[in-house]
Parts: sequence; structure tokens; C-alpha cells
Amino acid sequence: MTTAFALIAEGAAALAAAGVEEPRREARLLLAHVLRADAGALLLEPGRPVAEQDAARFREFLARRAQREPFAYLAGRRGFWSLDFDVAPGVLIPRPETELIVETALKPLAGAGRNVPWSILDLGTGTGAILIALLSELPFAQGFGVDVSLEALEVARANAARLGLGDRARFGRSSWWSHVPPQTFDLIVSNPPYIPTRDIAGLDPEVRDFEPHLALDGGPDGLGAYHAISSVVAARLAPGGRIIVEVGQGQADDVAAIFLRSGLEKTAILPDLAGIPRIVAASSPDP
Ligand SMILES: C[S@@+](CC[C@H](N)C(=O)[O-])C[C@H]1O[C@@H](n2cnc3c(N)ncnc32)[C@H](O)[C@@H]1O
Repeated sequence: MTTAFALIAEGAAALAAAGVEEPRREARLLLAHVLRADAGALLLEPGRPVAEQDAARFREFLARRAQREPFAYLAGRRGFWSLDFDVAPGVLIPRPETELIVETALKPLAGAGRNVPWSILDLGTGTGAILIALLSELPFAQGFGVDVSLEALEVARANAARLGLGDRARFGRSSWWSHVPPQTFDLIVSNPPYIPTRDIAGLDPEVRDFEPHLALDGGPDGLGAYHAISSVVAARLAPGGRIIVEVGQGQADDVAAIFLRSGLEKTAILPDLAGIPRIVAASSPDP
């Protein structure tokens, strides 16, 4: 029998040697995951005994994390907005900055109430995080999420069902607009792949070696998906409807210009918490 303290110390040393940031915290989170315990409580109970089989599982996870596999893939879950999403290798792990899309979409409703019967489209839905978070806030909205990745669609459907939103969230395979039903939407959201191909090699190993490049690679200038999305967006937004997308560093002005050229108006650029222009919104002309 070993103790939590000894395992966390062992884990922190292994993760530090592998170049993982905040190795002690990560080791504690891994052990908490294995023991189904609260990570904070482990701090208060360093002498907690740990059974050999739990220690063995911890060491298996530790070895994978030391290979720089993301913690979220080991845990199988990641929090986004106020919800817990299943994640799986092959599907992008939702990022905190993407919550800004949800926040931006809900902002005009402040004071007006959330009972809008919006029809929402999420292009490149991944785990379904953006669409499902929006539907969780808008009880009368319906949504359609598309992705080319079948793995992503499977995870998104499972998330919607587990979170009780399966009746209002539908998912289908589509390369951008190829199989989107012929209707208009009040709100279109997307966090498309936007990293220029040449920058992929310089990403952290957790991202470069474990997350799907299909979810990351935005082509030579990173803007390929925005051109595809903007090609018909003006015809697919209901009058006064909005599109809200996430962009990479330095891309906001280009993406706003792409939307203006596609017939949209009233573009807005919003920064993330680090002050980086991260969200571009545009509207279709009012009726
Ligand atoms: C950056 S990820 C975003 C995932 C999720 N929306 C999120 O924010 O966590 C981009 C997503 O776009 C999908 N994708 C890539 N190319 C696509 C295409 N041609 N048509 C539809 N989806 C595509 C990827 O499979 C991936 O799930």
C-alpha cells in the first residue's frame, strides 16, 4: 500500500521530466481521476492510502500523460460552458475561449428572455459543445450540427443525449454546406480549423500529436474554412440572423472582410480574455 503523497510526488517527477507544465497539479488531477476523488481533497489528505490496483492504474495514465497525451483524453471528459462533455481521441477537445461564441450569441437576449424559437446551425460541431451549450440556454431553440468526421458526430450525438438535449439537437455528416438541409437559420456558429498548415509542426505535442489535424489545419493561410462557410452564408441566414465564428490570432480583420464580401453586414470583432481578437460576428440585412 502506498500513499497519495508518494504517488503525486512520483507522478510530478515523471511529468516534469516529460516537459509537462504544472506537473504536480497534473499528477494530483490524474490521481483524483483514478480514485474518483476531489483533487482539492487530496491536498488535505496527503497520507491517504492508495490500493495497489489504483496505484497501477495511476501509473498507466501517468505513462500516457508523460507521452503528452492530453489529460482530457485520459479522463474522457472536459467541461465547457456549464456542462461536462464526453471527449474521445479523434475529436477536438473543446477550449475555454470557444465559450465566447456562446456568450456572444446570448448577449442580445439579455433582458429580452431566452424563449426564442431559434433555428441554429453549428458548422464543424466536434463534440457538439457550442450547439449543445446554446440549446441548454435556449429552451425553445432547435439545432443542427454538422461535421465531416464520423467520430465527432458519434461523440456529439452521445453528448446531446446524455445532457438531455437529444430531442432538439440533430447531427449529420456534411462537408460544410454539402448536406445541410435547404432552410435558413437564425444563428450560425462555427469554430472551424484555422491554423495555417505550416504552423502545425510548432504546436504543443498534446495538440500536434494527439488532436485530429482535420480539426486544426486551415490550409495555407488558415482561412480556407471561412471562404467555404461564407460562400453561401448570406442565403442561409434568416433576415436579421447572425453568424458568429472563432478565429485564430491575426485573422479577425480578414474574416470580417470575407463576410462583408459575401453580402453580410454589421460585422463585430470581440477579444478573448487575453485581449486577442477571437470572435467575428456578422449579420444578414434586416428585412
Ligand atoms: C476546431 S474543431 C471545432 C470543434 C467544436 N466545434 C469545438 O469548438 O470544440 C473544427 C471541426 O471542424 C470539422 N471539420 C473540418 N473540416 C470540415 C468540413 N469540410 N466540413 C465540416 N466540418 C469540418 C472537424 O472535424 C472539427 O470537428
